[in-house]
Amino acid sequence: MANLPPKLQDFLKSQFPLVLSTLDKLNQLKTKKSNTTPEKESTVVKALAPTQSKASFFNLIKFKIIDALGSYSGSKTFVGISIGTSSIKIIELRKTGKIWHLVHFGVVNLPEDVIVNREIVNPVAVIENIKVLVNQIKLKNKDVCTSLSGTSLIIKRMTVSSANKKELQDQVFWEAEQYLPFDVSEVVMDFHILSQLNDKETDVIFVAVKKSVLDGYMKCLSDAGLKPKIVDLDFFALQNLVEANYPMDPSEAIAVVDIGASSIKVVITSGGIPVFTKDTGIGGKNLTSEIQRNLNLTFADAESLKISGASSGALPQEVGDLMQNMADNLAMEIKKTIDFYHASSSGAPVTSVLLTGGCAGIPGFSKIVEDTVSLPSQLMNPFNVISYDPSVFTPEYLNAIAPIASIPIGLALRAGAS
Ligand SMILES: Nc1ncnc2c1ncn2[C@@H]1O[C@H](COP(=O)(O)OP(=O)(O)OP(=O)(O)O)[C@@H](O)[C@H]1O
Ligand SMILES: [Mg+2]
Repeated sequence: MANLPPKLQDFLKSQFPLVLSTLDKLNQLKTKKSNTTPEKESTVVKALAPTQSKASFFNLIKFKIIDALGSYSGSKTFVGISIGTSSIKIIELRKTGKIWHLVHFGVVNLPEDVIVNREIVNPVAVIENIKVLVNQIKLKNKDVCTSLSGTSLIIKRMTVSSANKKELQDQVFWEAEQYLPFDVSEVVMDFHILSQLNDKETDVIFVAVKKSVLDGYMKCLSDAGLKPKIVDLDFFALQNLVEANYPMDPSEAIAVVDIGASSIKVVITSGGIPVFTKDTGIGGKNLTSEIQRNLNLTFADAESLKISGASSGALPQEVGDLMQNMADNLAMEIKKTIDFYHASSSGAPVTSVLLTGGCAGIPGFSKIVEDTVSLPSQLMNPFNVISYDPSVFTPEYLNAIAPIASIPIGLALRAGAS
């Protein structure tokens, strides 16, 4: 991974002791005030505190499950960390005025079966790999924004009627309980006001996450020496990213699709709001397993054959056929999701598709999606609004990491806007 230019390193060294000690003091104060541990705070205290921010540009940036330790004021850089099924990615961005600048990016692969169904089943491996990555990129800013996805999350847009704002939270949580497949004591809940429809009705988006899953992520991050400040959702990280990178007409909707190792995440965004989300549990791992089975290889060998073949264009025929088949299946899933949205919602029609996530790197994938969905489709460029030092990062490098950098960038942008 690229290192910082020496001048920037000196600058950061000179700035960070002050910034860090200020933040630490603030955190200590907050911890004392609440008289509870950060973990306890993460699961209970903020769960009961609704976000009251107004719906506006970047409104979802203000939505989060946890804002455990409060403000980022004073920080010069903002860090997004995505713990995916196949790898952990960290990005550090510096914000100067309204300009975002790339400071660090790093990725470390995870062994198979460390994360299963988007739940951490081998925390030791996750902690060790985060530490490796943090050391590798010499990350100084330990305040991070991370995100969750998967079946432990419940997301629901709803219209609630309540006489006043104080009653709103009770009303939302009361209504939401009927959608929870878990006992209410097992989840952390939050909601965000999307719009005030009239005197009595409010449009909100509600999120619940299984406490055990959330705590697993929080504990790994803090045991690895990081301070998780904000926990967001992959969907909202994508939403933030699109808002920042792709100006859009409020009368249209864009389908943003992230295809990772074990999931297809679709968020349909319109007018600055994620009007529809869907998470389907298939991804690149399925293709690797197919290659493994057909060619009688280990998972790791099948994975490296897939990636090296995809980037060099020299795939064995059998692997090429499996990849084509998988690309067709993924494109069909995207089509089904968009068709379902059109059939079940009166929202703006989807006019284009933006693709990201590791599997978006399948050669020719955007064309396959475009042909299947019959809508303009392209790979998302998460670096559109981010400047960088060309003596540190090359356009080729940024191109190569773009699909896996999207969610971490969306998280860092969100952190910087809080
Ligand atoms: N050039 C490529 N061609 C095909 N597949 C690729 C390519 N590059 C990466 N992949 C696949 O993308 C997947 C990793 O993508 P990503 O890092 O977005 O997933 P993740 O965040 O780990 O998973 P998830 O979000 O589902 O938990 C792997 O399955 C990998 O094999
Ligand atoms: Mg991912």
